[in-house]
Amino acid sequence: GGAKPLAGRTAVVTSGPTHEPIDPVRYIANRSSGRQGHAIAAALARLGADVTLVSGPVTIPDPKGVKVIHVEQAAEMLDAVLARLPADIAVMVAAVADWRVATLNTEKIKKQPGEGPPPLMLTENPDILKTVGHSDKRPTVVVGFAAETQDVESNGRVKLQKKGADLIVANDVSPETGIMGGTRNSVKLITAEGIEAWPDLSKEDVADRLAGWIATRLT
Ligand code: C5P
Repeated sequence: GGAKPLAGRTAVVTSGPTHEPIDPVRYIANRSSGRQGHAIAAALARLGADVTLVSGPVTIPDPKGVKVIHVEQAAEMLDAVLARLPADIAVMVAAVADWRVATLNTEKIKKQPGEGPPPLMLTENPDILKTVGHSDKRPTVVVGFAAETQDVESNGRVKLQKKGADLIVANDVSPETGIMGGTRNSVKLITAEGIEAWPDLSKEDVADRLAGWIATRLT
């Protein structure tokens, strides 16, 4: 029940890590449970939005009321997101790997006795948030996350500009916070207008409040 302020609106949300293959059995990845992104997708749907969640590999179940597209690599995530535009809302929560292996090994790299470890040449992945934020089909509300271990506020401000976002949700992911992989989150909202610190909340409560913030911003 409840009000549906996002009825008739479309949203695309990214969540989880990406896996960038090194060879058929190995990959490079960031840490991400997908909990926060999945909760945001569900919260937007509860407010009436037509939500597509583009998820990297996670172990948590697909959220209810949401169309889920499962991807593995950043390039696939970007394609899936761009295919959903135009949309009213984009919330990019995924912990996208910054780099992938430049030339894919189609066979498993074998240990070579006496030769030491193989060198890995990396190349930069596309920045999905930045691409969406500067797209000619840019959604009305573009939200990004910033997982920082220091200078949360100043790094968030720089990110807001660089990525073309309306809002950066910044959090301190220092190991002692327990946020990575945990169920709670303590965030700061950084916009062109300033900074707002939210109290320590469950990831579900952060998601509900964020969906409300987005609905207010859109109307
Ligand atoms: O630059 P940084 O990785 O700290 O930025 C984090 C924000 O940018 C998050 O919203 C993340 O989902 C997004 N991002 C992205 N594609 C990348 C890297 C980050 O969408 N390749």
